[in-house]
Order: sequence, then structure tokens, then C-alpha cells
Amino acid sequence: MKVLDTLVRVAIVAVVLATLSACGDSVPNIGPKDSTLPSGEAGELIKQGRRIANNTAQLLKQHDGNGMRCSSCHFYAGTLPDGGAWVRVQAQDEQALTARINRCLVESMNGKPMPADMLGMRALRAYIGWLGTAKLKPEEEPAARGFGPVDASLTPDPTHGAALYTKRCALCHGDHGEGSLNEPGRGGYKYPPLWGPHAISAASEMNQLPMAAALVKNNMPRTRSHALTAQEAVDVSSYVIAQPRPAAAH
Ligand code: HEC
Ligand code: HEC
Repeated sequence: MKVLDTLVRVAIVAVVLATLSACGDSVPNIGPKDSTLPSGEAGELIKQGRRIANNTAQLLKQHDGNGMRCSSCHFYAGTLPDGGAWVRVQAQDEQALTARINRCLVESMNGKPMPADMLGMRALRAYIGWLGTAKLKPEEEPAARGFGPVDASLTPDPTHGAALYTKRCALCHGDHGEGSLNEPGRGGYKYPPLWGPHAISAASEMNQLPMAAALVKNNMPRTRSHALTAQEAVDVSSYVIAQPRPAAAH
């Protein structure tokens, strides 16, 4: 009996562990499979673009002004549905995509634009272009760009938002919205700042409702299992937006 009991317990633990590790791997990625990467230089350029999206502070030092990374907002290098995905971007040509990337660098990363022919810019364009080759089911298409739906007609309550911030956000983004850095030597943020001198500038599109509310509603707290209601997302975003931050870059 005892042996059976032990065996049952072992089996339960094994099932729980398997489920946990499956959860860890279950980031819904709507980009194309790596097996579709072209060989040679073209494939290397695409992979460099992905590295830059995930390590912008380290790889684009001269252009990233606040130490955030593209993936701070475009989660998992633009492959997360409703997480600022880059799988169906609006920019249709090289010039438009260059301008779009530079807009994020200047307004959201308080940085300097990159020339169109710079390696980092070519790599990001190549990567985003490759993401666009993903074949999606029709029902997956809407989530392949942007931050997802949120009810924009709700009236924000920043006072309620302040309380929510303390309860639901401060754990990661800090009591004063300051975020926290990666371990020493690695560079970049573990949790990006939401306000203060190192946060996005006042000109960032992420500093506007309902863009911020959509990101928060559909992606924050980082684990999607504790999602906020639309009203809560609007309230907490209105509070965050009202905090001090750098002026728009010139
Ligand atoms: C602070 C948040 C933030 C950061 C950091 C950021 N972006 Fe963005 N980005 C946005 C927002 C907001 C939009 C507008 C999304 C929309 O219109 O739905 C956007 C849009 C884009 C688009 C167009 C998407 C589309 O669907 O057409 C591209 C491409 C892009 N960003 C690239 C980048 C790159 C490359 C980086 C890093 C160098 C970067 N962004 C960093 C917030 C950010
Ligand atoms: C469990 C940790 C965690 C919690 C809790 C959390 N976030 Fe985040 N948040 C993150 C991480 C991590 C990123 C950046 C993702 C990356 O770099 O891959 C992020 C990014 C963001 C961004 C985009 C980047 C920027 O600086 O503008 C906003 C806005 C944001 N969070 C708001 C919130 C709000 C509001 C709450 C509370 C409702 C919240 N977050 C709760 C971990 C968290």
C-alpha cells in the first residue's frame, strides 16, 4: 500500500513538473519558423535583427537613448500576438519602415535615428520583413500587429489607477516607476521604467490612451494569467501617463 501511495505521489509530481515546464515553453509565437530562415548572409542579417530587438541597449548604444529595448514593447522581438507584433506591419516599403523604426528610436527610446543604410537598420528591416512571411490562419491576422483591442470609450480614473499601480505593477516596475536593471555587466533593463528620467518621452505613442491601455490590458502584468479588466487598464494607464518623463527629443 505504502509503495503504491509513493508511486502515485511520484506520478503526480511528474505530471505537475511536466505541465510547469510546458507552460514555460508556451509563449505563443506567431512568427515564421526558424527552419524557414534563408541560408548564408541573408539569414545572418535576419538573426542579427532579432538580436538587436532583444539587446538594443547593448548593440545600438549610439542610438538607444534610454536603455530600453524594442522588445520592451514589442514583446519577444515582435512575435507575441497583441504584444506589438511585427508580423503584419503597416509600412509597405523600405523607406516607410525605416521612418517607422526611427520614430520608435527617437520618441520611445529617446535616442538618435539611424541612417537607412546602417547595418543595424538593415538588420531590423530584414528581420521584420522575414516575420512578414509567416503564414497565418485568418483568425490569427488581427493579433499580428498592434497591442490588441481595448474599449476606448471608458472614462479613466487615475486615482483608482494609482492604487492599482501599487497593487499590480510596482512589484516589477518599482514603487516610483523606475524599473530595474539587468544584473551588472549585462546592460539593459529587466523591467523597463514607466516614468522618470529614463522612461519613454512625452512624445511616445505609448504615452497615449488607448495605446498604453491596450498594451496593459492584453500584456500586463507580464504573466497573462492575471489580466486586468479594460477599466482597470484604462485607469492604471491614465495614472502612469500623468507621471513626469523626459520631454520629446528634438
Ligand atoms: C516604449 C514602447 C516602444 C518601444 C521601446 C519601441 N516601440 Fe515600436 N512601436 C511602439 C508603438 C506604440 C507603436 C505603434 C503601434 C500601433 O500603431 O499599433 C510602434 C510601432 C512600431 C512599428 C510598426 C508596427 C505596425 O504594426 O505597423 C515598427 C516596425 C516598430 N514599432 C519598430 C520598433 C523597433 C525596431 C524598435 C526598437 C529599435 C521599437 N519599435 C521600439 C512602441 C515602441
Ligand atoms: C511580472 C512583472 C511585471 C508586472 C507585474 C508588470 N509588468 Fe509591465 N513589463 C514587464 C516586463 C518584463 C516588460 C518588458 C518586456 C521585455 O523587455 O521583454 C514590461 C513592459 C511594460 C510596458 C511597456 C514598456 C514601457 O516602459 O512603456 C508598459 C507600459 C508596462 N509594462 C506597464 C505595466 C503596468 C501598468 C503594470 C501593472 C498593471 C505592469 N506593467 C505590470 C513586467 C511586468
